[in-house]
Amino acid sequence: MAINYQQEDHIFTLETKHSTYQMKVDAFGFLLHLYYGAKVSGNMDYLLTYYDRGFSGNPFDAGENRAYSMDVLPQEYPGIGTGDYRNCALAVENADGSECCDLRYTGHRIRKGKYALKGLPAVHAEEDEAETLEILLEDAVTKTQVKLLYGVLEEDDIITKSAEITNGGTGQIVVEKAASACLDFLTGEYDLLTFCGRHAMERNVQRDAVTCGTRSIGSRRGASSHQYNPAAILAARDTTEDAGSCYGMAFVYSGNFLCEAERDQFGQTRWTMGLNSDSFRYPLAPGETLVVPETILSYSSEGFGRLSRQYHHCIRDHVCRGKYSRQARPILLNSWEAAYFNFTGETICRLAESAAELGIDMVVMDDGWFGKREDDTSGLGDWQVNEEKLGCTLGEMIRRINSLGVKFGLWIEPEMISEDSRLYREHPDWTLRIPGREPIRSRSQLVLDFSREEVREYIFDRICQVLDQGNVEYIKWDMNRSIADVYSARTVRGKVAHDYMLGVYEFLEKLTVRFPEILLEGCCGGGGRFDAGMLYYTPQIWCSDNTDAVDRTRIQYGTSFFYPISAVGSHVSAAPNHQTGRTTSLHTRAVVAMAGTFGYELDPSKMDEAEKAEVKEQVRRYRNYEELIREGAYYRLSDPFTDCCAAWMFQREGQVLLNVVMLENHGNMPVTYVKLKGLEPEAVYQDTAGGRCYTGSALMEAGLPLPVEMGEYLAYQIELNKI
Ligand code: GLA
Repeated sequence: MAINYQQEDHIFTLETKHSTYQMKVDAFGFLLHLYYGAKVSGNMDYLLTYYDRGFSGNPFDAGENRAYSMDVLPQEYPGIGTGDYRNCALAVENADGSECCDLRYTGHRIRKGKYALKGLPAVHAEEDEAETLEILLEDAVTKTQVKLLYGVLEEDDIITKSAEITNGGTGQIVVEKAASACLDFLTGEYDLLTFCGRHAMERNVQRDAVTCGTRSIGSRRGASSHQYNPAAILAARDTTEDAGSCYGMAFVYSGNFLCEAERDQFGQTRWTMGLNSDSFRYPLAPGETLVVPETILSYSSEGFGRLSRQYHHCIRDHVCRGKYSRQARPILLNSWEAAYFNFTGETICRLAESAAELGIDMVVMDDGWFGKREDDTSGLGDWQVNEEKLGCTLGEMIRRINSLGVKFGLWIEPEMISEDSRLYREHPDWTLRIPGREPIRSRSQLVLDFSREEVREYIFDRICQVLDQGNVEYIKWDMNRSIADVYSARTVRGKVAHDYMLGVYEFLEKLTVRFPEILLEGCCGGGGRFDAGMLYYTPQIWCSDNTDAVDRTRIQYGTSFFYPISAVGSHVSAAPNHQTGRTTSLHTRAVVAMAGTFGYELDPSKMDEAEKAEVKEQVRRYRNYEELIREGAYYRLSDPFTDCCAAWMFQREGQVLLNVVMLENHGNMPVTYVKLKGLEPEAVYQDTAGGRCYTGSALMEAGLPLPVEMGEYLAYQIELNKI
């Protein structure tokens, strides 16, 4: 049993293969957190201590006991207004205007299988892979009820948390803040690792000490954002890639989020993940429920590498869905960096011919095929094929492409509208905007009000009409701006941002049901909505608009802390690179793009014969390693932000693929040694190219020397096999 309730002491214990999580209902009915970390046995309630702390109030039912205070005790789901002055998990404004939610235990249920969340993405598992614990809490005065949901995937070292908040009273309440996960640590000095960045340079790793006060990250952009990824790690100060303890939280949500790590007056740490409370005021009428998106927790006592592999496994197998989640993905040739808006049907067909010649599976027609869309200032919302531009119908074009043995994919951006579009002229009121003010433009576009069903349905029907015109086997779903003017003509203020997200999820769900065979790739100006929520619908996401191989080693490194390689959209583009102007070799670009769902983003007709031959060889090589890359265990072997090389490896059933990109070269360059990881120390591994054999222990302890060679950003890909 992964979940155990000990009635006598009212203790719940959640067990995974390598971790234990424990909590207790105390004499007053508060749900206290006792422990999360490496496996332990026995009751951990001895850790709770009680002292009279000045200025820390006492609940009335504690009577004269001044040593009992919510301000000090570790809790599972701290509500506002209970005398706990730390960051709360739940803030509610009650019908009488008071702000208080004093949650006490009323019951629980343990069952087989993993709970699902209505209208929201969540971890899924077979009946025998997971167990669910539901704990019911209630505020006795207002009858606000909270159902805490815990999912335990024992074998995967994963615990999920979510909450359902129900207004069980008679007047309207307003939820002002709602987290899905809260972890209280009684002791310990921690660092918080966050993944910060910007458009075209996402998920740089940032490590900060959690000192007195709150360190927080979040998004108010309506998407999870390029700037702060909704996933973070809390680590002991001495934790490294391969040693030490660390905890992860990955929010399964793609909208506004808030992650707070607070060190309190007694050196205790509270860490929460949930919906962003800024501008969030979610009214609940009697009987209504708010479902808080889920957070995936995991613990590792062997550093970040192991934690990452636990998340990779969970997200790949238990978040991603659909036919492609565990299948080889098509190798793509995307038209964006090949032609931008400047193409006709002939251009796309020529790309398809090149794809056929080079062995590439699919050509993707990116932005520019619909409405009046010759640049990014017009046309969004008009999802009608521009047959004049294509010179034929979409169906005819796809048939021509398919006849070459090449699949076809299409770009869409359903949530957006251009002012210069037919849709805007007909329905200016369908956009998010504040009455009496001009809207905030971004990339010359506005945002459709996806909190409204009629708006979603209209766009859904239009897009279905397009997809029904031919054999579309892939869709790239883009979102190219942050949301501003968060005001809806129909949806109640304070609900808009979350209801917008629920609308996007509903649309995506309908799309996957209607077209189960289509592979979806998420995108938001590259990686601006790269999160576990989107991965539930789109098993891969375009990792960044930056295709520069050197920058990509860093972007993909940061991305790898939580997200599996199977989720990372990565392409070879032209040199000099269109984002940085940097030149790297075709080989280097391919080695980097192979740490993801491989493809090309360039015009092959501009390549010479030698380059084409090289591409053919790359495609052949990628197919050879595809399963190892997608399903294998991933190891980071260097830190490309600080080391002179970027190095990573894949391993599966004794097959190893080592990848290195040299980031620095100097006169009289010292030799770089790369140490491998995760091998069997006693086993012998053979280099398939040179035939040379090494023991696993040698490769891990002493490493492999890389050649000292002339040239910039040289890359190496070395296959080793256990013999
Ligand atoms: C975004 C995407 C690009 C491309 C363009 C098209 O920036 O990330 O890959 O699709 O939009 O406008």
